[in-house]
Parts: sequence; C-alpha cells; structure tokens
Amino acid sequence: MNKNRFTRIGFILAAAGSAVGLGNIWKFPYITGENGGGVFVMVYLLTVIFIGMSIFIAEVVLGSTVNKDSVTTLETLAPEGKKYWRFAGFSFITGVIILSFYSIVVGWILNYIVIAATSLPASVSEAETVFLGLLKEDITSQLVYYTIAFLIIAYTISKGIKKGIERLNNILMPALLIILLCMFFYSMTLDGFQQAVEFMFYPNFEKFHPNSIIIAVGHAFFTLSVGMATIMAYSASIGKDVNIVKASITIVTLDTVIAIVSGLIIFAIVYSAGQEPSKGPGLVFITLPAIFYEMGSMGNIMAIAFFIALAFASITSAVSVLEPTVMYLVERKGISRVKATYGISAIFYILGLFALLSNTNEFSAALTFGSKNLFDWFDFVTAAILMPIGGIFIAIFVGYIMDKQSVRNALVPYMGETFFKIWLIMVRYVAPLAVFIIMLNETGIVKFK
Ligand code: PHE
Repeated sequence: MNKNRFTRIGFILAAAGSAVGLGNIWKFPYITGENGGGVFVMVYLLTVIFIGMSIFIAEVVLGSTVNKDSVTTLETLAPEGKKYWRFAGFSFITGVIILSFYSIVVGWILNYIVIAATSLPASVSEAETVFLGLLKEDITSQLVYYTIAFLIIAYTISKGIKKGIERLNNILMPALLIILLCMFFYSMTLDGFQQAVEFMFYPNFEKFHPNSIIIAVGHAFFTLSVGMATIMAYSASIGKDVNIVKASITIVTLDTVIAIVSGLIIFAIVYSAGQEPSKGPGLVFITLPAIFYEMGSMGNIMAIAFFIALAFASITSAVSVLEPTVMYLVERKGISRVKATYGISAIFYILGLFALLSNTNEFSAALTFGSKNLFDWFDFVTAAILMPIGGIFIAIFVGYIMDKQSVRNALVPYMGETFFKIWLIMVRYVAPLAVFIIMLNETGIVKFK
C-alpha cells in the first residue's frame, strides 16, 4: 500500500495551511474586537488548547491509524455490530458546502489584491461603498474572481497529495509566514502597537458575556478545521514515522500564534488611525482599506501584502475542505482523481453561485429563506450545526467506541500516561459537553446572553 504520502514537514505545513485561514486573519480579530479583547483571548486560548487540540489529536489518530478515506476509516475501526459509525465519515459533506461559500470570500480577497494595487478607497464611507458595491451590485467581478478561486483549488486537488497539496503549501505557507512577520515588525513601530497589546492581553470584563465563551469554543473548532474529516484525510496521508502528538502541537501552536499576530497587526493599524477595534466583520474589507489609504505609499504596500497573505491563507484552507470528498470518491468508488475533483467541484461551484447571487440586490429576495439569505444559511448550517455534530461524533467515537488499546497504543508512546489521561477526559466529557452547549445556543434552542 504505497501511496502518495506527505513528508513530515509537508504534513505540518498542509495541516497548518488548512487551519490557518480566514478564521485567523479575518474572523479572530473581529470577534476579539466585539468581545472586548483580553478575557476573550484567554478563554479562546484555553478552549483551543484543551478542547480544540484534543479533537484535533483524535482526528489525527483516526486518519493515521487506517490511512484511508474517512468512511473506510470509521468502518474499519468500529467494532463488529457498530459498523454504522461509518456514516459519521460522511462529515466531509460539510467541507464541500463550506467550500462553496468560502470560495466566494476567496474571490473577494483576490479582487481586493487588485483594489489594493490600483485604487484604495479614500475614506471609511468610500470603503463601505466599494465593498457593498462588490457584494451587492457587481455580479461580474464576483463571478470572475470566484471562478478563478475555484479553478486554483480544483487544480491543486486534481494533482493529488504530493504534487498538489504538498507543493502548494510548501510555497504558500512559508510565504504567508514571511509576509505576516514583516507586517508584524512594521506594526511594532506604529503608535497604536502598545494599545493593541493592551487590548488583546489586558482583561476587560465589560464587553465579555457568557455568549463570548460559546463564540470562543465554536471558533476553536472552526480555526483548527476539525469536525469535518479534513484533518482525518490529511492524516491518512502521513507516514508511520511522524510523531503525531508533536505534529499536532506544532500545528495548533502555529494556528494560534498566527491568530494572535494577525490581531496585533490589525489592531495596531486600527488604533494608530484613531479608530476602534469593535467594527465587526467589516474590519478587514472596510476599515482597513481606508486606513491603508491614509498611510500613503507604505499603506499601499501593506494593503497588497495583507490581501496576498489573506489569499494564501484562505486558498490553503479551501483546498483542504475539498480533499476528503475527493479521497472518498477515489478510494471507495474507484473514480479517477481528476474526474472526482472536477465533478465535485462543478457541483459545489454551482451551489456556490446561488450563495453568491443571494448577496446581490437583484437576487437576494428570491434567495432569502426566513431570516437569512443562502450565503448566511450555508455559513450557519456548517459552522453552527454540522461542524459541532462532526466534532461530537469524533470525540465519542475515539472516546467510547474505538478499541481502547488501539487509542492508547497510538498516543501513549508520544504523550505519556498523564497527558493521555487528561486528553481522554477532554474527548470523553469536556469536548462533547462543550459542543452540545454551543449547538443549543447557536441553533437558538437555548440562548445565552
Ligand atoms: N480553519 C480554517 C480557517 O480558520 C477554516 C476551515 C474550516 C478550513 C474547516 C477547513 C475546514 O479559516
């Protein structure tokens, strides 16, 4: 069974590529802003380390034990009489639904690289007009960039683990790290840097509410890409020589450091311009471009670097959500990789088109159902319902269903008895309970204020 495998560093970069995405650079800074900073960051760190990383390790155990697609993996590891657990492997469907709207955002980012290079908006209100104009009126630009995004993603996956995914990440991830590092050093020279540090690390309980904890837990899942067979699929392609615990810790650390560094960069820029960090989702597409404009030519360079970084981070994530489905079709259905990739991509490209149109003035009425348009529905159903369910299934499967001795054999050599016990408590009790509570909250069954 000698298939296409990642090298050790290739796996770390690819899994980190999956984890580091819009969640780190776009979402983490704005939810930190909205939830008051320091306390939120602390809760986020705790949930990432204890809950997120535990499930992450669980997925790596599953993938690296069987080295097959997620359905076969769960089927193989489930004891006789419980083979129906294979259905939990279909959580890869969450991934391709995410792909369909994530690629729309990748498209906006590609468009913003061009905007950054040519004509930054001169004020916040102009920036708002530019962004809303793109989102609500400019179907052509969105379509063009969305299509480019999809083509890059599908092309990469069609080339397979080594020539596609590993190669892409080997280039984009170091490039991303270098860009962020340069931006970080530059942001340290700005007047607002001190304030940014205080905002992110000084506990301010004023804006913090119980709901912030739930947002932090939900984000811990999203940012580590767990609960949808992505990490399982990547781990199915590692060699036996990889220390899976060390690799997981490295990936989670990279993801966390990049989130914090992005937050510091963005808040330093925002504070230096005398603005407030609590701007919500418009932070990156509206507030920042206007500030970059005011910074003159340095702002232009920063803007281009920033949107390129965001593009790199989001493309490596988008690629990872397509892989588990393709892997399933190749391994279980015997379809060729190229056919599987372009077939699935075509279906979810079309689905995504509806999500794209649902944001536009022309079609939003027809594509809004209840309180949300299709774009928001995709986001909500995946992040609030499907990912947490996928996460619960993984935790329960590894914690209760799979043979205990195999789990122990996979982990104890790398983490020792004590940490293994802590990890087991996390996957058996803490993670499922936390996920259950988020789901009650996000689906509105019980609302925390
Ligand atoms: N972790 C990615 C991010 O932070 C998003 C993602 C979610 C990627 C699920 C793959 C799977 O942006």
